[in-house]
Amino acid sequence: MMNHRVLILGGTTESRELAGHLSAKRNIEVVLSLAGRTRDPIGYPVPLRIGGFGGPGGLAEYIDERKIDLLIDATHPFAAQMSRHAALAALETGVEFFAVSRPAWRQTEGDRWIEAGSVADAVYKLGANTRRVFVTLGRQELAPLSGAPHHSYIVRSVDPIDPPLAVPDARYIQARGPFALAEERTLLAGEKIDVVLAKNSGGAATYAKIVAARELGVEVVLIRRPERQDVETVETVRDAVSLAHQRLASVA
Ligand SMILES: NC(=O)c1ccc[n+]([C@@H]2O[C@H](COP(=O)([O-])OP(=O)(O)OC[C@H]3O[C@@H](n4cnc5c(N)ncnc54)[C@H](OP(=O)(O)O)[C@@H]3O)[C@@H](O)[C@H]2O)c1
Repeated sequence: MMNHRVLILGGTTESRELAGHLSAKRNIEVVLSLAGRTRDPIGYPVPLRIGGFGGPGGLAEYIDERKIDLLIDATHPFAAQMSRHAALAALETGVEFFAVSRPAWRQTEGDRWIEAGSVADAVYKLGANTRRVFVTLGRQELAPLSGAPHHSYIVRSVDPIDPPLAVPDARYIQARGPFALAEERTLLAGEKIDVVLAKNSGGAATYAKIVAARELGVEVVLIRRPERQDVETVETVRDAVSLAHQRLASVA
């Protein structure tokens, strides 16, 4: 039987799980691509390639050279540029292509959400009064916080924030999800947090902070997702596995 080659654009829990499921089949070779943002990527069950492709043209070249049969965009819902590039490269090469993206969180009873269009907008929406803010953004996204130095920040990230923020009162917690509800409740209550600043990432791994905020009546300034391309998208790993098999069956 001919081997099929699958390229997964990753950086998410879903990408790792999907890679595991697909590579368990003997006739499927999976390569998982990471941007290289996390210093120490862990627990991947397939070969990794790390770093940008050099734009959509570079990705198209990679697909052609490696004779990729199926491209799966399993990047984070906020990785809008990579998703755009993936759609363009798929168009250019004609490779089989789809995306997997978990649904956004929906506001429910008791949530005190203020939605924002960007990090800068979110920081503006923290307001003029001094507040204690729990920040769960990536280290590349924090620059706008320096524009609101009157707040107290507790920033949680996977990698260290270096250099630190240019604000007088910021503390840093280094941790990798998933986070348990009890843990989040203790953190929000113990630190007397007034407001959580987060992205609407969706999924279970980081949802506990939203539940804890709801329970404690804490406000959440939540950054909306960027628009995605109009490509076929499934929401779960399970659906991604079956669509991948379907698409590979149609490849000669
Ligand atoms: N944004 C988030 O909130 C977030 C959260 C968790 C995980 N992640 C993961 O972190 C990575 C970077 O996210 P981002 O928001 O910075 O992306 P982005 O803004 O959409 O992408 C910027 C550039 O990084 C490179 N890149 C991104 N994802 C890549 C991948 N999987 N493999 C190879 N190159 C990649 C591409 O460079 P070239 O143009 O040179 O190809 C892309 O143009 C993604 O893999 C994403 O899944 C992001």
